[in-house]
Amino acid sequence: MPDIAFVKPTLPRSATLVLPLPEADTPATGLHAEADAATGGALTRALEAAGFKGRKGQTTTLWAPGGNLSKVVAIGLGKLADLTPQAAEAAGGSLIPALAQDREATIAADTLPPALAASLAMGALLRSWRFDRYRTKEKEEDKPKLERIAFATSDTSAAKHAFAPMRAVADGVFLTRELVSEPPNILHPTEFADRCKALEKLGVEVEILGPKEMKRLGFGALLGVSMGSAQEPRLVVMQWKGAPKSKKAKPLAFIGKGVTFDTGGISIKPAGGMEDMKWDMAGAGTVVGLMAALAGRKAKVDVVGLIGLVENMPSGTAQRPGDVVKSYSGQTIEVINTDAEGRLVLADVLWYCQERFEPRCMIDLATLTGAIIVALGHEHAGLFSNDDDLAQRILAAGQLTGEAAWRMPLGDAYDKAIRSDIADMKNVGGRPGGAITAAQFIQRFINTKHGPMPWAHLDIAGTAWTNKDHPTIPKGATAYGVRLLDRLVADWDEG
Ligand code: BES
Ligand code: MN
Ligand code: ZN
Repeated sequence: MPDIAFVKPTLPRSATLVLPLPEADTPATGLHAEADAATGGALTRALEAAGFKGRKGQTTTLWAPGGNLSKVVAIGLGKLADLTPQAAEAAGGSLIPALAQDREATIAADTLPPALAASLAMGALLRSWRFDRYRTKEKEEDKPKLERIAFATSDTSAAKHAFAPMRAVADGVFLTRELVSEPPNILHPTEFADRCKALEKLGVEVEILGPKEMKRLGFGALLGVSMGSAQEPRLVVMQWKGAPKSKKAKPLAFIGKGVTFDTGGISIKPAGGMEDMKWDMAGAGTVVGLMAALAGRKAKVDVVGLIGLVENMPSGTAQRPGDVVKSYSGQTIEVINTDAEGRLVLADVLWYCQERFEPRCMIDLATLTGAIIVALGHEHAGLFSNDDDLAQRILAAGQLTGEAAWRMPLGDAYDKAIRSDIADMKNVGGRPGGAITAAQFIQRFINTKHGPMPWAHLDIAGTAWTNKDHPTIPKGATAYGVRLLDRLVADWDEG
């Protein structure tokens, strides 16, 4: 990944010059004007000849336009009035492919407010991430070369100040993307839990529970899923205590589904596309990245993150369709389909979280159902909540970060679908409204006996992974939810 620097505006000696330009007829100013003068006006003529208008996302590359400049990339910002932080990030990300063969680039952000220069940098950084741990034969010419991006700005200290927390959030995003990208033979529950230990150096308390402890506690639902696997399950409890003494309150809680591979179990999935089920731990990966982001920017809040880690395998010791298991809450579950395993894992982790922490609210993330992809595609995560205020906050944070969510209904009529003839509930409700009946199942493990428990569930099956590049997200693991929830915490609790 390239280093990011904020520097005083001077034309680069050898580095590529990037000009983020608005869609406007106003004359060039700042570094843009200097570069144009250095080329005797050739820069402006070349951009005109290339049809560059500054439209949002438009990029044009000019080679040796004159002066000492070896390469100039112009990137369109659209109308300046519409240049939100999110739009600046997208512009920053969009210029990365144009710099693949350059070692150094100077971005002329000197005519933008420093905060937007920081957003440009954030977008560029997010797009630069790559997972190349397992490539051993990539040709030199195919590797990205970018080592340093210098953002020229009128106020370097203001830009650096704005960028510092963004950098921490980007590191959280990268941790999530890495966990989600890892192959399932490497990232089994034990390895995943061990990697969470890395958060300790950020000041997060990390605790790991194994099968013995979970058996003693009575985690029958989670352990049932794990039964078929040779890999031991893990429960990881992470605590970040950042609230000042004067503002101590109950913690916010984030809970993640961490199925490191989902074969479906005895209700086995078809072979085609099954490799995608390595990222069935994206909910857990997001919780870990979020904890890293919050700790990294020293968020002034108390937060707990809990993840249930299991592998769902078919074998002679696997759980069967028809089994009845007893969850940690005491409620019994008839397991009709062993492929509806995520809700079984969440059931025990959610209950444990409430018993131990009495959190102020709980938000769980899970690649829970194929049905949410049918409903919302890859553009929105499914949001389910028993609390309108919490739901609104999540929708708003989603809008601001570009990690959109769409609220889905809950209700007794849906809950009926998971009634069982022999146990307290069954783990599937049939095809109609599959994402909703799954959420309904989870809601049965939200304890409102001692008062309200605001809870939200994000079904991220459609948003955790992308098969195409986006401005700030290279194809693959998206880390959807890290930025949304970081923003939720910042806007809600740190003000
Ligand atoms: N992990 C899957 C859901 C999933 C599907 C995530 C596609 C990402 C992409 C989940 O465990 C699952 O298998 N759900 C079943 C539920 C069904 C058996 C009620 C599904 O969606 O088919
Ligand atoms: Mn499944
Ligand atoms: Zn699953």
